[in-house]
Amino acid sequence: MTSFSVSDEDRARLLIAAFEVVKRAYAPYSQFRVGAAVLTKKGNLFAGCNVENASYGLTICAERAAICAAVAAEGAAMEIHAIIVVNEQKVPCSPCGACRQVIFEFGADALVIFQGSEGFKDIPAAELLPDGFRL
Ligand code: THU
Repeated sequence: MTSFSVSDEDRARLLIAAFEVVKRAYAPYSQFRVGAAVLTKKGNLFAGCNVENASYGLTICAERAAICAAVAAEGAAMEIHAIIVVNEQKVPCSPCGACRQVIFEFGADALVIFQGSEGFKDIPAAELLPDGFRL
């Protein structure tokens, strides 16, 4: 089933949740605070922020933090309807490659909403990550 759109109401809920959680990001190294919110196919909303570490490679991106919260609450069957990513500076920021693969795992047809150079862009996960890995 494809779900390449969100209602205006759900888009507003996603935006509010992501901008609320971005305030709690832990980004002392990059100072780049990111917030993400996931709307599941069940209609629930989960948020996450980036959590950095002195060992830089251990950093967890906001998108993956939000997805982990969604799985922890709904379980292994959690499916993403839409995921939004925002940053405090409001500069263009698309999900990194690792996050694209994790989003793909929970919804090849998920709508990924992120800040582009001219406002928010809505792109289906499978388009952001063609031929995503499946086991
Ligand atoms: N970051 C995210 O959380 N999500 C993205 O989509 C891009 C990058 C974080 C990782 C790191 O804490 C900071 O932004 C700078 O790369």
